[in-house]
Amino acid sequence: MLERIRRLKGDALRDLEALDSSEALERWRIKYLGKKSELNLILRGISELPPEERPAVGQEANRAKMDLKAAYEVKAEALKREELERALQEERIDVTLPGRPVPLGRLHLSTQTLREIYRIFAEMGFQIVETPEVETDFYNFELLNMPPDHPARDMWDTFYIDEQILLRSHTSPGQIRVMRRYCPEPIRVILPGKCYRYEQVTARSEFMFHQVEGLAVGKHVTMADLKGVLIEFCHQMFGKERKVRFRCSYFPFTEPSVEVDIDCILCGGRGCRVCKYTGWLEIMGAGMVHPQVLRNGGYDPQIFSGFAFGMGVERPAMLKYRIEDIRYFFSNDLRFLEQF
Ligand code: PHE
Repeated sequence: MLERIRRLKGDALRDLEALDSSEALERWRIKYLGKKSELNLILRGISELPPEERPAVGQEANRAKMDLKAAYEVKAEALKREELERALQEERIDVTLPGRPVPLGRLHLSTQTLREIYRIFAEMGFQIVETPEVETDFYNFELLNMPPDHPARDMWDTFYIDEQILLRSHTSPGQIRVMRRYCPEPIRVILPGKCYRYEQVTARSEFMFHQVEGLAVGKHVTMADLKGVLIEFCHQMFGKERKVRFRCSYFPFTEPSVEVDIDCILCGGRGCRVCKYTGWLEIMGAGMVHPQVLRNGGYDPQIFSGFAFGMGVERPAMLKYRIEDIRYFFSNDLRFLEQF
């Protein structure tokens, strides 16, 4: 029996020496130290041995068990270290490798231009208000002093959804919405947003574009305020040296009405293809809010007056960055968009 125990221990230690993974170690533990291991069976069978053999066998078997346990601990520790070492080797990364570039997005040129416009007007105390893109004929035309058969409606080729609903052809209906919301408070707002026109798409005109409307209403608002605000805007937007010209015009919702020109930023007023050899570039429409429009907004024109203006966003950006074709803005070509 003692011989059997010694042989068993020898086999176990030899096997232990040879194994090289935690899984194999676990299999070894079950085989030599588990409940059903030979050694355990010997220990459990001691009571069936002749009494004189029991002490020696018990001693030898217990010593073998303790030795195997100790050897197991040492091996387990060594294996763990080895496996860690291997993992560190295999998973090693080269920290000197250059990083992969993260593609960065950017703001669309229209958004950048809008934000520039917001900044300038915010400094002059204008708040930004957004009004609906889907409008009614009532707001887009009637309340702006254009009854159904008014010939001035032809100034805007409009996308109608049905008899009453349309895509706004300008941001001016927002004037009425803001007046009705804030009346009788004084108002100083800009209204940015998309506008739509049923037009032939060309290098100069898109069926969708942005406008920024401006509206100031109060008790002593005059044409001088309109001129002061718009001259300051033009200087900040297009350069301090710009000349600004106010030219008589007509809109049904302003009286008097003007169109605002700046001297051509490309030729400095000498005349070129872009300004069609006039030396001037038209950048917006404006005027004093028509008394009937004030009334439609809830304000008494005997007490209140106001000025309004409306400008495109893409056209000025085209001038500033010398973009030849407005269609680039919304055709989503990265080669164009990435330049700004
Ligand atoms: N709504 C006009 C347009 O789209 C511009 C404008 C706005 C003119 C406000 C006068 C006052 O052409």
